Amino acid sequence: MRQSSLVVVANRLPIDDSVAPDGACEWRRSPGGLVSALHALLRHTPATWVGWAGGTGPAPALPDVDGVRMHTVALTADDLRDHYEGFSNATLWPLYHDSVEQPEYHRRWWEAYQRVNQRFAESTADVAEPGAVVWVQDYHLQLVPGLLRALRPDLRIGFFLHVPFPPPELFMQLPRRAELLRGMLGADLIGFQRSQAAHNFAQLVAKVLDVPATDRRIAVDDRVVRIGAFPVSIDTAEMAALAARPDVADRASLLRRDLGSPEQVILSVDRMDYTKGIEQRLKAYSELIAGGHVKVRDTVLVQVAVPSRERVGQYQILRERVEREVGRINGEFGRVGEPAIHYLTQPFDRAELAALYRVADVMAVTPLRDGMNLVAKEYVAARVDDTGALLLSEFAGAAAELPQAYLVNPHDLEGLKQGLLSALRAGPDDLGERMRAMRTHLHRHDIRAWARSYLSALDDSGSLLTRLGAAD
Ligand code: ADP
Ligand code: G6P
Repeated sequence: MRQSSLVVVANRLPIDDSVAPDGACEWRRSPGGLVSALHALLRHTPATWVGWAGGTGPAPALPDVDGVRMHTVALTADDLRDHYEGFSNATLWPLYHDSVEQPEYHRRWWEAYQRVNQRFAESTADVAEPGAVVWVQDYHLQLVPGLLRALRPDLRIGFFLHVPFPPPELFMQLPRRAELLRGMLGADLIGFQRSQAAHNFAQLVAKVLDVPATDRRIAVDDRVVRIGAFPVSIDTAEMAALAARPDVADRASLLRRDLGSPEQVILSVDRMDYTKGIEQRLKAYSELIAGGHVKVRDTVLVQVAVPSRERVGQYQILRERVEREVGRINGEFGRVGEPAIHYLTQPFDRAELAALYRVADVMAVTPLRDGMNLVAKEYVAARVDDTGALLLSEFAGAAAELPQAYLVNPHDLEGLKQGLLSALRAGPDDLGERMRAMRTHLHRHDIRAWARSYLSALDDSGSLLTRLGAAD
């Protein structure tokens, strides 16, 4: 078995198998913020990515992706149902996102979570060089740091949570809360998106495990575990370069024409997820049309909603509701050849996404709760001429970094409508000033800055950073 000095462990690999229209198996990039962030970072780094390839049965052998070695972990149909769809996405995901949908608790799901975490830990132990740095990602794998430390005490282990970490009142609901906290404490450094999350974690460790904890350091056994906020980001320069390409600009002009050359285009790009506030946004838009504040001929909405976690009941219900609502709004307010909402569920390549971002006069990113939201950052990076307005939920992690956006509370329908109107009606000077400030921030705080701050805290020797090329 070939071993690496840097191992990233995430439930998702950056590519997964999907069935092509002709029935053949094809590999394509998996959508989602975790993959976007890490893929941008690791390209051309001699690292190994341990993860799941999206199907069930024996682990397929995957080719390297941009120089990164793929090490697949197999999931059975039971693991998929009980670990991925169950404990990860029907217990932890809703609980960590403010319980916007009711989390479910089942003992069988917990058993699968333990079993799959153990398998990830063992696979990682196999591919990590002596003394390697291992960086475990996200809520599917919270037990891996502890399990891996037991197998391989020589490793330096980091853990990063891409989603929010909830306040104690919510986390206390979890039947196996102590085990999850102990699992995370197997890491040397635990990173969160926001300092509030680190604070929540410290409070819980003190309360549930009776271990003294501050928002920076926790002493467990004979070790010190450090915790802190490391807001994740994007490859800002790459998105800006893509958006500035002449073919992307041409594609954007064509898209605008195909949309009927409206005065203004509103765009939303989400995974189809109940945390993203899609229904609230559609309601706000339809009420603006019904109230005569917005005319369909002048202002269109493009809603991209790529299906996600499609076998989980709450996601199926959401998709049905969204599609019914899109149909209702188009039926009521559209005309032949002139729909109010252009609704797309396809995955797009990066150039097409950049073209969409260039077309959007207003980007509406209004999740009910989101760890960060990279779509908001991608939009800003793509606005190379400093135009455009970002409408952003206060409950997205990105809001703390982009205060120049039009900030809204998506639960407040009137506020959401008002925010949308303000963004649509803003003057070019105001927009330019806001966009410039946000772009400057993102050029400084890009994906490399994120890696630099996290990995230099994890590996104080600095050798890892040099290998990643992130030390400049
Ligand atoms: P989440 O991680 O919850 O999905 P983020 O906004 O942080 O939310 O990240 C979503 C990522 O997935 C972004 O990088 C975005 O560009 C990508 N993405 C979203 N929708 C699509 C799509 N239809 N096609 C391709 N990529 C997409
Ligand atoms: C969020 C999570 C990631 C996950 C992604 C896509 O970004 O934080 O861990 O990979 O959503 O979801 P999926 O269930 O398709 O992996």
